[in-house]
Amino acid sequence: MSSERVPVELSQGVNGLDKIILRETRGSSAEKSNFFFIFYLFLLLRGFQVYLFGGHVTSWKNDHGEELLFVSSKALFKPPKAIRGGIPICFPQFSNHGPLEQHGFARNRFWSIDTDRPAFPTNSSSKAHIDLILRSSEEDMKIWPHSYEFRLRVALGPGGDLMLTSRIRNTNTDGKPFTFTFAYHTYFSVSDISEVRVEGLETLDYLDNLQNKERFTEQGDAITFETELDKIYLSTPTKIAILDHEKKRTFVIRKDGLPDAVVWNPWDKKAKAMADFGDDEYKHMLCVEAAAIEKPITLKPGEEWRGRQELSAVPSSYCSGQLDPQKVLLGS
Ligand code: BG6
Repeated sequence: MSSERVPVELSQGVNGLDKIILRETRGSSAEKSNFFFIFYLFLLLRGFQVYLFGGHVTSWKNDHGEELLFVSSKALFKPPKAIRGGIPICFPQFSNHGPLEQHGFARNRFWSIDTDRPAFPTNSSSKAHIDLILRSSEEDMKIWPHSYEFRLRVALGPGGDLMLTSRIRNTNTDGKPFTFTFAYHTYFSVSDISEVRVEGLETLDYLDNLQNKERFTEQGDAITFETELDKIYLSTPTKIAILDHEKKRTFVIRKDGLPDAVVWNPWDKKAKAMADFGDDEYKHMLCVEAAAIEKPITLKPGEEWRGRQELSAVPSSYCSGQLDPQKVLLGS
């Protein structure tokens, strides 16, 4: 499941729920002076953790051990309620765009560790990964009558990037295709939402979830936040940046197979209405969700779909004008 240099640990998380922790500790060195050895120990601690409940990433830490994802202090960790924060997986339905429960059922099912996975075509050579699988159950067939295999790989890239790859296969034996929508519902941790801007979605069309999913065109500059926002941007570029001025950090989202991007912040009123979310926590989170919504995916039996997102967090001195946000978007 992972290289020897990358310790993976299966342990019990909140309320005894199983979670897998992947940690990378790096950077010790020794130097000889005239009289003695000097040892340097840099303890760089980065990694992620995934709950089997939901196949849900709940933590992603950088080299300094700083948490990059938001998880609510009021998150319940009580199945079947999905965990509030981290990266819930929305499948086979995004939000209420269909007859199923909100965001589908994958985020509140128990996934398994995938010990028997077929070759995983990926351009990453990362050995620091965890493979999970969710299969159709008899119970779920009653609400969504399809047989599928959903393989999720969560990997840590060489620079500490967090990479999620989903492979969904139609294993129906009745010859029937199935159709689904999908999102990586990522909650990013930000210092102060009013100091944050999202680059890469300007001038695009979007469906406004707050106005009966009506279609509009985004005007002007980058997206900033001063009230509730819940929009599905359509046909978005493969790269989106979240600039956190106060924290001097930029998140870059790279995606493949996921044309849409949802941007969501509940703001104060909706925050108060959510039992598993602190009243003021909306200030410290932002969801930017790589998704396939407008054009649902259809798979015939035997066919497989692949959707991938790669997240990086880079220090930025955007405040002092040294970082050109265009470079973040257009650079490699
Ligand atoms: C977002 C939707 O993806 O998720 C919002 O666009 C929704 O409309 C939000 O409110 C949270 O959903 P839930 O089911 O986790 O409360």
